[in-house]
Amino acid sequence: MTVKSIEITESTTKKDKPLDEELQFGTVFTDHMFIADYSTETGWTDHRIMPYEPFKVDPAAIIFHYGQTVFEGLKAYLSKDGKIRLFRPEQNMKRLNQSSERLCMPQIDEEMALEGLKQLLTIDKEWIPKAAGTSLYIRPFVIATEPYLGVAPSTKYRFMIILSPVGSYYKEGIQPVKILVENEYVRAVAGGTGTAKTAGNYAASLKAQEIATEKGYSQVLWLDGVEKKYIEEVGSMNVFFKINGEVVTPALNGSILEGITRKSIIEMLKHWDVPVVERQISMEEIKEAHASGALEEAFGTGTAAVISPIGEFNWQDTKFVVNEGKTGELSEKLYATLTGIQTGEVEDPFNWVIELD
Ligand code: COI
Repeated sequence: MTVKSIEITESTTKKDKPLDEELQFGTVFTDHMFIADYSTETGWTDHRIMPYEPFKVDPAAIIFHYGQTVFEGLKAYLSKDGKIRLFRPEQNMKRLNQSSERLCMPQIDEEMALEGLKQLLTIDKEWIPKAAGTSLYIRPFVIATEPYLGVAPSTKYRFMIILSPVGSYYKEGIQPVKILVENEYVRAVAGGTGTAKTAGNYAASLKAQEIATEKGYSQVLWLDGVEKKYIEEVGSMNVFFKINGEVVTPALNGSILEGITRKSIIEMLKHWDVPVVERQISMEEIKEAHASGALEEAFGTGTAAVISPIGEFNWQDTKFVVNEGKTGELSEKLYATLTGIQTGEVEDPFNWVIELD
């Protein structure tokens, strides 16, 4: 595939940058954005980087009515010697296309998207925060822009990349979070859109999340949509348990999101010779493992959340406190190694990181 040229219009004014220590998640955006447009007649055209600003979309655009859209999340870091580092970005572009395939949306040219991202990062490099636990969150997304009220795939799309300097996703930072196991609502079923990163999955999660927040829980743990028995994933993370020295995570079953951090953690554990299995896990099994003392640790993995230790589950009004509510040794080591590889402070034996010149 050929990389088309990218037209660059630099912003004449620069916004004030927040202090690293004041960063939250997803509230501030950089000076520029990347855009490309698509129509079925021309394919992708007009690749450009321009000042970050609102843009016009027809009120009848399909995105607003039928939610035809996909997105990704990845992060950039700055190395000690000032180089931009990206963690497995090609995996995100590949998954964006897998999500698009499910939503009947056109494939992006992954090489073009990566090139656009690299040029955008170079222009907005000063926005990459430096403090520990911070990064520049990257949000590539595609929306259906054709004005049409019939239910059909759009013939026009817009691909964009926006950037946001971020701190921790959770207010707890890397302290353990409390999770409410959801018994009424479900996130996805096999054959649905659970494996795609698409807005509707997240819109559908809000009701359960609202209830969890009211009860003082950070996120919900979703159970399978048929029997509400088997563990799927947490709101914005995949989930892992350490039981009797073995790490287990729900197997990809057609409704779970195939997390890139999930995949990286499995590879890292294998590299360390820590036993790790992907299989079906019931909530009953976790209850029994907790009762017998076999449940040693639990943690979530995700781009936004990185590694988030889980200190408590509430299932059907029974609380299971994990590892006395403290961060486990393995969760700590995974967090330190993963973030170390991402920032360049730890050697990257997997060649996961791309460094820009
Ligand atoms: C990410 O981890 O990047 C995600 O996409 C989760 C997001 C919904 C905050």
